[in-house]
Amino acid sequence: MTNTARATFGGKFGVLMATLGTAVGLGNIWRFPYMCGAHGGGAFLLVFILCILFLGLPVMITEFFIGRHSQRNVTGAFDVLAPGTRWNLIGYNGVITSFLILGFYTVVSGWTLEYMFQSVFYSFEHKTAVDIKADFSAFSTDIVRPLFWTLMVVLITQIVIMSGVKKGIERSAKVLMPLLFVFLLLLAIRSVTLPNASVGLRYLFEPDFSKIDSAAILSAMGQAFFSLSIGMGCLITFSSYFGKNTNMQETAFQVNIISILVAILAGVIIFPAAFSFGIQPTAGAELVFITLPNVFAQLPWGNLWAFFFYALLAVAAITSVISLHEVVTLYLHEEHHISRKKAAYYVSFAVVILASISSLSLGYLKEYTLFGLTFFDFLDYITAKIMLPLGGMMICIFVGYRIEKRILKAELTNEGTIPFYFFNSYAFFVKYLAPVAIALILLYEIGVFKFLAGLF
Ligand code: PFF
Repeated sequence: MTNTARATFGGKFGVLMATLGTAVGLGNIWRFPYMCGAHGGGAFLLVFILCILFLGLPVMITEFFIGRHSQRNVTGAFDVLAPGTRWNLIGYNGVITSFLILGFYTVVSGWTLEYMFQSVFYSFEHKTAVDIKADFSAFSTDIVRPLFWTLMVVLITQIVIMSGVKKGIERSAKVLMPLLFVFLLLLAIRSVTLPNASVGLRYLFEPDFSKIDSAAILSAMGQAFFSLSIGMGCLITFSSYFGKNTNMQETAFQVNIISILVAILAGVIIFPAAFSFGIQPTAGAELVFITLPNVFAQLPWGNLWAFFFYALLAVAAITSVISLHEVVTLYLHEEHHISRKKAAYYVSFAVVILASISSLSLGYLKEYTLFGLTFFDFLDYITAKIMLPLGGMMICIFVGYRIEKRILKAELTNEGTIPFYFFNSYAFFVKYLAPVAIALILLYEIGVFKFLAGLF
């Protein structure tokens, strides 16, 4: 594809909704409550917000710069901006990370389809919290059903990718993302009016600082990167489709704020309900899937609510799957000159294999672990907690040290036609603060400091 043939997103609202389609997904609604519950609630939320604002925002703006300035895919972008160098390794890290994330993200997206299906054919009514938990366990450890739904997710993705960038993604995101927010808002209202809801709210909003350890900080940083879809070039690919008049600082800021709000909303839905139904907030990856059916079970027309909720969640998940898939497909298409269609088929095929292993690792292959983690958890851990922050750090170092400030400013101010009031602070964050902070958090978790302390 030549530069001139690249499609562009049209309209301010379209750009924002399409970017939100990529950013908002299972990360906010499934992964945030589960991580927040695993690391003590309020304190995690606080560190997560700090990571979004101080690390996520600058990294996102920087990715937008790289994508729109180069007009290329995630590895090609570095070849254009730094020809003949190995900076394109950042891009390869991104392609591999996208692929590995797809390995578990498509499985969880499949779970949302199963629950959508269940809300049509089975009633949640009269089920107790214990039944609901047992049902989820039986389903997620089953061999065939999760695989079937994962396959459906990949199939839908393949179809959307084939139908072209602008048409498919933008049109659906414009309508469905706002609808999802409205639904989340309604569910939050229901949840906070449940008996005992205040315990859950306190859990989410009252930080207990004794819960902050290196694992919690690493998880919060990983969650911020995952939730914003940064650190792996997804937004480089995405912004290569932005028009020259898109206000990228503003878009990044809006996406960051909305991402925080959606995560908080998910917390406000999940924690009061979990405490109300006696579910442990530390339940792990199943937290959302065992908490929400209890809420639906008690609502009038509960199954109808459940259907719409899981349908919208599935759409949010699949829009994210599409953009992850697009990173790998576009790389194969532009760098290896494989037709778009063929490239998409190859990626889909490989994803189905990877996702099958990760789905089976929750049941049938549970005994086989890597570093003490199931394959599913392993993919989640290395991508969110290691590869994304590492990618984000390298992206900042690249732009901070390799790109002339003048060029950076020109691109981010649309050639001087819009202001960027905090440009100098932004540039300082990108060059010094973000890389140092990310490196320290990563090194701390790996145990380098403990090791050094042991030497003296
Ligand atoms: N940000 C997405 C979510 O919160 O669900 C997940 C994601 C999508 C991560 C796309 C990375 C990515 F490239």
